[in-house]
Amino acid sequence: MDRKHYIIRGGLEGRARLVVLSRIMRPATLSVLDRAGICPGMNCLEIGCGSGDIAFELARIVGPRGKVVATDIDEIKLRLAREEAAEHGLTNLEFRCADILTEQLEKFDFVHARFLLTHLPDPRKALEQVRLALHPGGALVVEDVDFRGHFCHPENRSFSRYVELYIKTAQRRGADPNIGPRLPGLLVEAGIKAVRINLVQVVGMSDESKLMAPLTMENIADSVLTEGLASHVEIHQLVHELYEFAHDPTTIISGPRVIQTWGHRP
Ligand SMILES: C[S@@+](CC[C@H](N)C(=O)[O-])C[C@H]1O[C@@H](n2cnc3c(N)ncnc32)[C@H](O)[C@@H]1O
Repeated sequence: MDRKHYIIRGGLEGRARLVVLSRIMRPATLSVLDRAGICPGMNCLEIGCGSGDIAFELARIVGPRGKVVATDIDEIKLRLAREEAAEHGLTNLEFRCADILTEQLEKFDFVHARFLLTHLPDPRKALEQVRLALHPGGALVVEDVDFRGHFCHPENRSFSRYVELYIKTAQRRGADPNIGPRLPGLLVEAGIKAVRINLVQVVGMSDESKLMAPLTMENIADSVLTEGLASHVEIHQLVHELYEFAHDPTTIISGPRVIQTWGHRP
């Protein structure tokens, strides 16, 4: 896949945002991995691994008898994740540059992808590739967003404009920012059995989850400009107002609604 489909800044800045996102999502993701049956000794695939934080968790869970392959299309993030894995002494973890839409991988017992399918022009193709990368009986867990559920209180003009810009930019690139509720059906169509679903939504008042909105606005700025949806001046102003809103202790900001869905290959 051409990297220009991905609307969020890559490299170092993109990674810094993903580290915050991973901290916020950690409890919900660990919970769904557990419900889907992750256990020591498994061979796992983490697709679109970003900062690598989930891959580190998987490597610790599967332990020395297991193995984790973590893929992404961003060489900079992969290099930084490899360095961090070495610092953590994680030797059962391999970071690999691979596009899920074009590269077929070997077979795994457990596959996880979070906030990846929402960015892909062809999520069905990706799920077909994932099914082929599962051993019979292997488990698949997918977590993804529904931007229609992203809210704040009180209503805020800058927040509404940020959500509008995110949705429009993603749609212009052929992505689906509201893919969450489509996921269970896509898994069924891909031949995954015993599909289950769970809904999670992070909401914050004083914690760092409130910073995801301004951080995301900063990190989609290049794509918004390229698509001609807003000017430099407007984006700069939006980021400033979103930080102000996030730092106000009386406001609340949610993350997008997140659908978790999982099942196994028969
Ligand atoms: C929003 S980030 C999510 C990262 C991580 N899964 C998480 O939840 O923190 C999406 C990641 O998918 C990667 N990506 C985008 N398109 C991809 C593709 N076709 N194949 C593999 N990775 C891809 C991006 O480079 C980015 O690191």
